[in-house]
Amino acid sequence: MQTKYIEFTSGDAPEFIEAAMALREGKLVAFPTETVYGLGANALDSEAVRSIYIAKGRPSDNPLIVHIADRDMLEPLVTEISPNALKLMSAYWPGPLTIILKKTDIVPDVTTGGLNTVAIRMPDNDIALELIRKAGVPVAAPSANRSGRPSPTMAKHVLEDLDGRISYIIDGGPCRVGVESTVVDMTSEPAVILRPGGITPRMIEQVIGRVELDRSILERKPVDRPRAPGMKYKHYAPKADVFVVSGEYGNIAEWLKKAVTDDENAGIKSVILAAKEHIREYGLKNAISYGSIENAAEIASSIFRLFRECDRMGADRIYVEAIPKEGMGLAVMNRIEKAAGGKIIQAGE
Ligand code: TXA
Ligand code: MG
Repeated sequence: MQTKYIEFTSGDAPEFIEAAMALREGKLVAFPTETVYGLGANALDSEAVRSIYIAKGRPSDNPLIVHIADRDMLEPLVTEISPNALKLMSAYWPGPLTIILKKTDIVPDVTTGGLNTVAIRMPDNDIALELIRKAGVPVAAPSANRSGRPSPTMAKHVLEDLDGRISYIIDGGPCRVGVESTVVDMTSEPAVILRPGGITPRMIEQVIGRVELDRSILERKPVDRPRAPGMKYKHYAPKADVFVVSGEYGNIAEWLKKAVTDDENAGIKSVILAAKEHIREYGLKNAISYGSIENAAEIASSIFRLFRECDRMGADRIYVEAIPKEGMGLAVMNRIEKAAGGKIIQAGE
């Protein structure tokens, strides 16, 4: 299959309209959102949705998020919308918040991995919204990476993974948020966050009061049967072995210096991803800055890209300095710990 690359210019460009029509008719179209690039298919077309799983090499019990452009698109997809769900939509849509509701029969089983619920989100990206509007159908879209690889935050990442496996890719530049949307289950009381993301737990609490965190977020190792099926797989991982290094910053620095030297002596190519302040303060070698320790949002927007860059550098090991699990730090650490698959080092103990 030839993948047609489109650099976005305007919603009226003939090639953009062609991609939207192809999407409606069952083809796969990768497109930018504010979080990561999505791999879109007509959510109401079982065959089209099935082809997403094939292109990604994704297990088919892992349900997809259905993307909509406006509230009118929501009504036919869900049986009811609770007052709290409505409040969240008003507060954070369009935005990086995915809301799980009970599905109607028009949503095919393959879209929801056989569940009787459906995950819905309205992305905060004009290109995505225009594409969905022009296609005129809700769009099922997982992140546009091969299953298990870091999520794509630039069009070139999508091409790295999916060139020749999908019909179109629309390049809308780098993604602003950089980690996936927060997934919140509104079918239970209290609501439960199944995946931390661009909207923090506090932001949700400010609107609807108490919200729980699913245990898969609190456990550092993959759990057996998480409520968001996607959370059980090794995820977001570069080819290199990822290690999370946590503890006091001084201890982390000591540990990293020794590890890099030991690796060097053993012929292992290791790379450190750490805060720019610490790289400077501790004079760390082989280190790349993921942003400022003061700014978890900045780290979120660079982490997946850096994982891919480490692969390109041929790294065998990546040591990632942990950050506090506060605000966006919760989502960032969730992705890093998943990439590490449980390899977590407590420096100084
Ligand atoms: O930011 C995002 O959400 C990106 C962009 C493209 O919108 N999409 C994304 O999709 O991250 P994906 O497929 O990579 O992740 C969807 C997550 C998975 O963990 C999945 O298990 C969970 O949402 N999920 C989807 N539907 C669900 C449902 N009905 N019940 C529980 N979890 C669900
Ligand atoms: Mg994904």
